[in-house]
Formats: sequence, structure tokens, C-alpha cells
Amino acid sequence: MLVLGIETSCDETGLALVANGRRVLAAQLASSLKQHQKYGGIIPEIASRAHVELLTCELEALMAAARVSPSQVDRIAVTHGPGLSGALLVGVAAAKALGLAWRKELVPVNHLHAHLYAALMDDPDPPLQERMIGLVISGGHTALVRMDGIGRYTLLGQTRDDAVGEAFDKVAKLLGLKFPGGPEIERVARDGNPAAFRFTVPKMKSGSPYEFSLSGIKTAVLYKVNEWANGRMSELAKGSATRLVAHSLTRSLGPQFVADMAASFQSAIVEEVVQKAVRACRDSGIVRLVVGGGVVANGALRRRLEQAAAEMAIRVRIPPMALCTDNGAMVAGLGFHLQVGDPKQLTALPELGVS
Ligand code: KG4
Ligand code: ZN
Repeated sequence: MLVLGIETSCDETGLALVANGRRVLAAQLASSLKQHQKYGGIIPEIASRAHVELLTCELEALMAAARVSPSQVDRIAVTHGPGLSGALLVGVAAAKALGLAWRKELVPVNHLHAHLYAALMDDPDPPLQERMIGLVISGGHTALVRMDGIGRYTLLGQTRDDAVGEAFDKVAKLLGLKFPGGPEIERVARDGNPAAFRFTVPKMKSGSPYEFSLSGIKTAVLYKVNEWANGRMSELAKGSATRLVAHSLTRSLGPQFVADMAASFQSAIVEEVVQKAVRACRDSGIVRLVVGGGVVANGALRRRLEQAAAEMAIRVRIPPMALCTDNGAMVAGLGFHLQVGDPKQLTALPELGVS
């Protein structure tokens, strides 16, 4: 079965043709990222407009690259949530229009489930009916789930404040690095000492042990940057360190300070995420861990996950790099396994949860 996947939940316009949930015949990925960079974050209106502008030519390029005609496509899978409302609507509207024009059935796909499926796509015999622990870590979401087969997910815990990717993005901004911050932190952290600064994630007294709280560590970075700024006050114009941080100081933070801070922050976040995921496996007796979302592109995290999983005899599945951040292939892949939906009911669900 050949599935066309459409992904437009954020700034990436992702399209792909995937056979039987596994084999990617062709994929197209365009992004409006450059247009957002000068604002230091994603601007929803810009993302929506870019999807409108990009979708048609991306689709043409996709069909040409795969040498596939519409009659060969069996169904259309589209991300219907969670994500930016306007951006999702563009993808959903495109799927509906194509469904009508090509007479194809439509499959609504949960973006977070698609991120998890990305880790199983290249498995010749994916353990779809087995129990697994799923960890989604992206720019907008952080969640641990128990997966009792495809489509049957129970939320174990999510973040109380910042998502993991969001924490990377905010700390990068504090350090004067570009958006998105995750890849930037990873790049500069290579020259840094992860033990230079000690960051601890506060232990939560109430709630599930699988919940995350990452805003404290971001604030701790801000304090350390401020301390450093105060230490340099004599060299700089007098004034509020915080104001300086927000303005000119970030540019003058020394490269070693930034590298050490990035490495220390990254190492603290990696440890927090890995420990929570491993604990969820240990507590539930589930020996399979599936990880997805943009932050899984982080090399330090991938290595630490594999190491910790090996120590605990957990079989961890991590997506290939190309399938970590948003893409159409994971949507088409998962769409193969799901029920078709009623096109009249299909709509964008920006707040859709993981379970
Ligand atoms: O899954 P994704 O592409 O979009 C969402 O669904 O949110 O994830 C984007 C997030 C951003 O916050 C970005 O900074 C983060 O993934 N990210 C990374 C890396 N590459 C992307 N975080 C850490 N290290 C990376 N190498
Ligand atoms: Zn995503």
C-alpha cells in the first residue's frame, strides 16, 4: 500500500510517499526556518503562509521524484495535531482537497505518535503489538508514554513547564546563539567541559515520577550568566546584568564560557531525560524503549541513551537523523497502520495530546 504523508504542524512542510509503512519512495522537506530566525522563534503566520506557498510545488516534485501517478497512491495521511493551528489547517485542507480530487481515503495522524513511529520505520519486523515505553522530546512536547501497540498509548508523565527542545532553544538564546538552539548548543558544547557548571533538576515532591520540570535549569543558566556579567561589571558599562544579558552582553560572552555552559546544560538535560525514560522501563518491567522528536537528533543524548539502555538490558530504538525532526515520511509510515477517518470530521486539533 502506497501512502502519501503530509506534515505541516510547525515550520517544516514535509511530504513523503511510503510503501507499506516502511519503504520511503521519495520525500520532500522544505522549511520556513530562515524567515523565523530573525525573530528568535517560530512566527505562526509566517509558517502558515509558507506552507501554502510550498505545498503544491513540493507535491509536484515528490510525485516526479517517485515517478508515481495519483492513481498509484492508496491513501493520504495527514498530521491533524498537535501543532500550530494555522499551519495544521493548511496541511489538513490540502489533504482534503487531494482526497476529493484523487478520490482517496484520508488518515488523520497524531504528530507525537508519528515521531515515535519514526524509530520503528526501518525495522523489517516492527514490534507493533508489543509493550513499549515511548519518549517524545521535541520543541513543543515532552512526554513519556506506555505503548500497548500502535494507537494505544497511556500518558505516564509530561513536562510541567518547558519542553526539552524549548529549554534548548531558550538557553541558546541566553547564550547569544541562533534559533533553533538545540543544534547550536550541541555544536558549541563540543568544545566545552560538561563538568564546568553543576546543574541539578529539582526533585518534584508531588505528581508522577515521570513528570519533567525544566524551567528551573534554564533559570539557573540565567543566574550563572548574570554572575559572570557581574564579575565583568568593571570592564563593562554599569547597569543591570539582566538587561545586559538581554542585549549586548550575549555577544561578548567569551567562547569558552559559552561552550562550558552549553556542555554543562546539555549534559544535565540528557541525564534527566535518560534517567526518567530508564526508570519508566524499570518500574513497568518493559524492556523496549522508543524515542522520537527533534531533540533525539542530539548526538550526546543518542550516545547516552544507548549506553544506559545497554546497562539495563533495554532495547532502545532511535530514529535515523533524517527522521528525528519533522518530516512527511513518519506521517505516511504511521498512516499505513491506522484506520481511515471521516473526511467531514477531519480538522486541525492544535491541542491534541499524546494519549
Ligand atoms: O520535532 P521537531 O522538529 O519539532 C517539533 O515538533 O517541535 O523539534 C524541534 C526541536 C527544537 O526545539 C530544536 O532546538 C530541537 O528540536 N533540536 C535539537 C537538536 N536538533 C533539533 N535539540 C538538541 N540537539 C539537537 N541536535
Ligand atoms: Zn515534531
